[in-house]
Amino acid sequence: GSVPYADIISRMVKDTERAQLVVSERTPLQQWLYSRVALFGPSTVHFVSGSAEEEKLLSARCIADGTMKPLNPKLRPNCFIALTDAKDVARSEESTFVCPVDKKNAGPTNNWRSPVEMKAELKAKFNKCMEGRTLYVVPFLMGPKGSKLARVGVQLTDSPYVVLNMKLMARVGLDVLEMIPSDSAAADAAARHPPEPARDPSAKFPQQKLGFVPCHHSVGVPLHESSKSTPWPCNIDKRVIAHFPDSREIWSFGSGYGGNALLGKKCLALRIASAIGREEGWFAEHMLILGLTSPTGKKHYIAAAFPSACGKTNLAMLRPSLPGWSVSCVGDDIAWMRFDSSGQLRAINPERGFFGVAPGTSELTNPSALAALRRDTLFTNCATTMDGDVWWEGLTPSRPEGLTTWQGTPGGTPNAFESLGPAAHPNARFTVSAERCPSLDPAWQDPEGVPISAIVFGGRRASTVPLVYQSRSWEHGVFMGATLSSERTAAAEGQMGEVRFDPFAMLPFCGYHMGDYFQHWLETPRRQNAKLPPIFHVNWFRRGPGGNWLWPGFGENARVLRWIAGRIEGTASSHETPIGFVPTLAELGVTTPPPRRAGGAHIASDVLQTVDAQGNPLLSLVPGTEADLLRVDRDEWRAEVDRIARHFETFGDRLPTQLSQELETLRTRTG
Ligand code: GTP
Ligand code: MN
Ligand code: MN
Repeated sequence: GSVPYADIISRMVKDTERAQLVVSERTPLQQWLYSRVALFGPSTVHFVSGSAEEEKLLSARCIADGTMKPLNPKLRPNCFIALTDAKDVARSEESTFVCPVDKKNAGPTNNWRSPVEMKAELKAKFNKCMEGRTLYVVPFLMGPKGSKLARVGVQLTDSPYVVLNMKLMARVGLDVLEMIPSDSAAADAAARHPPEPARDPSAKFPQQKLGFVPCHHSVGVPLHESSKSTPWPCNIDKRVIAHFPDSREIWSFGSGYGGNALLGKKCLALRIASAIGREEGWFAEHMLILGLTSPTGKKHYIAAAFPSACGKTNLAMLRPSLPGWSVSCVGDDIAWMRFDSSGQLRAINPERGFFGVAPGTSELTNPSALAALRRDTLFTNCATTMDGDVWWEGLTPSRPEGLTTWQGTPGGTPNAFESLGPAAHPNARFTVSAERCPSLDPAWQDPEGVPISAIVFGGRRASTVPLVYQSRSWEHGVFMGATLSSERTAAAEGQMGEVRFDPFAMLPFCGYHMGDYFQHWLETPRRQNAKLPPIFHVNWFRRGPGGNWLWPGFGENARVLRWIAGRIEGTASSHETPIGFVPTLAELGVTTPPPRRAGGAHIASDVLQTVDAQGNPLLSLVPGTEADLLRVDRDEWRAEVDRIARHFETFGDRLPTQLSQELETLRTRTG
């Protein structure tokens, strides 16, 4: 009942000016803070309370440092634009490490360093790294209050921009501290918790007993008397984002960019949580969660995993082209799921905001997101207009006069920009509170989570993979997830367009051996005697011979969701192919032959002008595309089987035998 940390909080706030921490009680949080403040050497410590005044103060600091600029309040009230260092624009997979004691447990998909070595390196990097700066203590909760799955984290950071983003993306506030246990056993463990590396390299790190996940972040640029803070401090050469799944802690140095610096998101809610979920029998996934309601009022919740920048936010906020259907949003990026005591899969969204890709977002593609962004939004690396608004490629059909690019190149005619490349960075983002989304699901904060009726995987594939297909079984569905493959996007550094395997869209986010992760997916529902939801695979990105998208996507994806709902209910028809069940064109409401269309439109579809027997608009596609859309080509799939075989080899003896069997089945069927 009592507030265990009220005392230290008040003392720290009072002592902020003197940069002195007087800690008398030995609670885990205090011990941890004490040792970290001593190591980082900040000039002041600020406990983030989550108040509105505090938000004003933090924004003012970011503006004074030049990190953020306010947008025109008449056009976008309480909105800001931040422009990053040109080298700090995306997640850095190269600098990301997963550091279990045993290298084998990181698996072939993660960079590994021994925790002892990594801790030593981090200790050197973080030593006095916050000199001249304020250390912000950000207590946060991932998940709805009262949920069994919710987890507490505390992030230490020297970036007020990061604090502002964390306040939008997680449940931040002093009340979270009351959820941290303060018993003496935990305190003792915390006292032993090594701020320096253990001497015996083989010694197991103690299981985290702090009662929260400690998250350490610094931009890595101390300020000295003579130096003034730059608009975007970062330390790219020394950048490292390290995860310790055994002791459940996170250390991130040198980057201020979202995925590297908002530690509740990819670091805690995916990499650390996936490792916890494996131990405790649940799933932390890179999945959106949406509610789909039919004209007769039947509602199904669906969870879907697509790799970064492959359409999760857009699908989660979809406005269906089909009358009477609606989609509501529970989450757009991360799902924590467990089977309840009745065997029903249930999911929560651990976040409370959206960190979405800006380019491509428009009134036509994602009206719900645009409505959300009208106020109270942080924009990062977007272009700005002459009247103080934001702009990005795809927002309007043509570039407005007098844009300033994300790199600050000002003015100019629209044509002058053609040589400069995109005006907004391709990975430009918006950060906005979930409450701002007009299609937010009423149950989005239900502590029990929403019941999941289907799981969908999807990738960005120019060829081979049809618009949608359904697995034959749970094992086959896990095989579909394990072999998910997609073109690289701007969301992470690296060669764009290259097709790579991204199992379960978790390649950059799985906190342990990916082979064990497949096994966890295969065996958990069987062990828990759970109901198995059907599994689907989608591809909005197949291209025709001319390079055009075959499928219009966005609102028209409702046609695919309608078929999925029909499959859940057992009413929609399909036909079997070597890779699984594919809908008929009639099920999708696609017509042939289509009317002629003049001109070279980018999207190879035409406006709707006919309706089916129920009055639903039919979609007419350019001649020939309707067959390509759902085609399963044996030659393409034989090549795919060979790719999958090479992919599977990397997991060695940790590849579950069911998956090699599924591969052999696919080889036979496509042979
Ligand atoms: P992260 O937030 O990085 O995990 O990505 P995400 O999966 O949420 O991707 P998002 O929805 O932001 O989409 C990324 C890009 O794909 C945007 O440029 C979208 O415009 C585009 N996109 C999304 N859905 C579709 C679709 O159905 N068809 C086409 N052609 N493009 C789409
Ligand atoms: Mn993501
Ligand atoms: Mn997204």
